[in-house]
Amino acid sequence: MKTKICELLGIEVPILAFSHCRDVIVEVSKAGGMGFLGLARMPADQLKVELQWIDDHIGGKPYGVDVLMPQNYQKLPDVKIGPEDLPQEQVQYLRKLLDNAGIPRLPEDDDQAMLRDGLSRVTQTREEEIALLEIALKHPIKAVVNGLGIPPKEVIDRLHSRGIKIGSLTGKVEHAIKQKNAGIDFIVAVGTEAGGHTGSITSMVLWPQIVDAVAPTPVLAAGGIGGGRQLAAAMALGADGIWCGSIWLGTRESELEPEMKELFWKASSEGTIRTLARSGKPVRMLRSKLTEAWEQPGAPAYLPMPYQSMVWCEPDLRVRRAKHKDFMSYPVGQIVGSMNEETTCRQVIYNMMTEFVEAMERVNRLIATD
Ligand SMILES: Cc1cc2nc3c(=O)[nH]c(=O)nc-3n(C[C@H](O)[C@H](O)[C@H](O)COP(=O)(O)O)c2cc1C
Repeated sequence: MKTKICELLGIEVPILAFSHCRDVIVEVSKAGGMGFLGLARMPADQLKVELQWIDDHIGGKPYGVDVLMPQNYQKLPDVKIGPEDLPQEQVQYLRKLLDNAGIPRLPEDDDQAMLRDGLSRVTQTREEEIALLEIALKHPIKAVVNGLGIPPKEVIDRLHSRGIKIGSLTGKVEHAIKQKNAGIDFIVAVGTEAGGHTGSITSMVLWPQIVDAVAPTPVLAAGGIGGGRQLAAAMALGADGIWCGSIWLGTRESELEPEMKELFWKASSEGTIRTLARSGKPVRMLRSKLTEAWEQPGAPAYLPMPYQSMVWCEPDLRVRRAKHKDFMSYPVGQIVGSMNEETTCRQVIYNMMTEFVEAMERVNRLIATD
């Protein structure tokens, strides 16, 4: 397949993968697509190790990084935020919920250390994101994608001066136009079906609207893509390629623990919820008793970014240690309903391409004349 995005990024197939897992990045890039490592929640020391590992294993294939740089968020004080600084109403509400469900508290001797580690992984400021980007710039990254809008102008200029392409996620036509005007090289149009941060417009409606609004800027379709028929639909709607996140979570290479994968295999597409509970901005994730708790009468208010993510840390740690399936949750999109068993990144791409060709042939037969 030769599309504008293939030319722009020097890749063979227009399949781009978002993942927090270095193995996914390497496998997708080696299969001819392009992996983007999510930097959010990664301590600087770990990032250095991950990027070096990628460089050592990717065989010179192109890869990129994904950052979360919101345009508007509450500026935090310059002191480190500890467990004692969090809003207590929300903390106590969740603590009681888990106590009542019999989920053990964190071990007393190291609960503060575990919590502090969890909190320090919540990216706090734009400055910290930029510091992570500086580390990434010491490696041969070919592109940077911002998950939360337009990066600061100085970041755009700096990346462009090094020949690095910039992409930006959006779920709104108006934002896509602003991103194009700010000099973004490719737009990722994210339909509401997507896992992680997502808007409210469906992929079917959003993709062609954004394609038309930002032409000739290349658009990647995202949200609900797990196979070749969806790839064909995206290309038919004018996209230059696809950007997927959820589908890689079901692969052998993914970072997910086996218990979470089991929950994915069982979940239907109705099993996800778009909620403010995870980060303070709408995130689609697996519905669980922990997400439902925020919808109950008497539930405390959601907090702005990044406090909501911080409040999520303690219950998430407790639930994952206890492997309590009713409460376990993780960002994933509606495509989870089609994920039924473990696969590999290579197999996902092979299936996508095979199914894409079959879908195109089927459509071509519909218009064949004889
Ligand atoms: C587990 C998970 C974590 C995500 N974290 C981020 C993130 O840190 N930054 C980002 O730009 N997008 C993130 N996303 C969203 C993806 O970039 C992408 O928009 C989405 O996965 C596409 O829809 P799909 O899940 O249907 O493939 C995440 C998605 C998932 C499933």
